[in-house]
Amino acid sequence: MTAKNPKNRYEIAVVQGDGIGPEVCGAGLAVMRAALGGDGILNFSEYRAGANCYRDTGTAFPAATYDACKAADAIFHGAAGIPGVTYPDGTEAGLDFGLQLRFRLDLFANIRPVKLHPGVSSPLSDAARTGIDYVILRENTEGFYAARGGGNLVRDDIASDTGIITRAGTERVVRKAFELSRLRNGALRDGRRRVTVCDKANVLRSLAFFRKVAQEVANDYPDIELDFALVDAMTVHLVRKPDFYDVIVTENMFGDIISDLGAATVGGMGMSPTAEIGDRNGFFQAAHGSAPDIAGQGIANPYGTILSAAMMLDWLGDRHGDARLTEGAERVRAAVAGCLTDGNLPGDLGGNARSDRITEDLCDRLAVMA
Ligand code: IPM
Ligand code: MN
Repeated sequence: MTAKNPKNRYEIAVVQGDGIGPEVCGAGLAVMRAALGGDGILNFSEYRAGANCYRDTGTAFPAATYDACKAADAIFHGAAGIPGVTYPDGTEAGLDFGLQLRFRLDLFANIRPVKLHPGVSSPLSDAARTGIDYVILRENTEGFYAARGGGNLVRDDIASDTGIITRAGTERVVRKAFELSRLRNGALRDGRRRVTVCDKANVLRSLAFFRKVAQEVANDYPDIELDFALVDAMTVHLVRKPDFYDVIVTENMFGDIISDLGAATVGGMGMSPTAEIGDRNGFFQAAHGSAPDIAGQGIANPYGTILSAAMMLDWLGDRHGDARLTEGAERVRAAVAGCLTDGNLPGDLGGNARSDRITEDLCDRLAVMA
């Protein structure tokens, strides 16, 4: 673990990626610079990875990019992948950047806040009254995803991928869920700190095991309510009673799916930031994909990536005991709140603001705050 000593300057490895990746990444960098008063505290260095990189060089994730990501204080990413740019097995090449980073840097905690921001409307009719503000903690290195690059195809008749759930992997992510809950103010509905374990314990042995291990970990956190939900029922609960939730912890693929559902309730994928963290490294990107259909038009929603930048500043600031960064994160969130309530909304949120107008508005607000 790093001692809590602020550094003069932090190295950030930046990968723009594909599709709208460069646009939203650029927005995130501009906002961080505005929040911190320039390039003094963070040093951004760009590296290549993703589908275009695969097309140009034959590899989606060059060794030099991996080395830089590993050595950096944090990794910041736009979005990667282009449908149709695939490996011989049919899977998308560009995704290897993010997926390999998760495994090779052991980024086991994928933290996805689901928050309805003032000024953004939800498709759920009650949401404006009750609010939505919970966190999905997705285990990020196990489950079916652990089979990526492996799997079996037999005689073109039978395909298999093996899902992995380990005690150690489950314990650490569930522990993290309780720790996250302690840092929050409980569920909006009743103010209670609550960790919901989302699984499929009724059908699969591996997920019954996930639940059992979670229950054991919960014994160390008697101050926090323990709750269980089967993943199919969870999709109903997240629509019907989102204000009941505080922290939801789940295995990798379930987390992938329910975090998209959660995002849809708070404005869509454009409002879904992510922090993927391990004991040593942190990787920050929005949960959305590279949206090649709207790339280059200047209309992508940059808020998800900008909110991911705020998560990066928070993580770095906490880790190093550096208030310049945690205060910068606060300012970014305040600027976002102001911008959204003033109706500066991109197309996916029902407005018509272009990405650069949103970014400029945020930077103007930050210039007077800093
Ligand atoms: C996500 C994405 C990724 C995933 C893809 C791009 C590999 O959907 O971060 O949720 O499936 O984990
Ligand atoms: Mn996803």
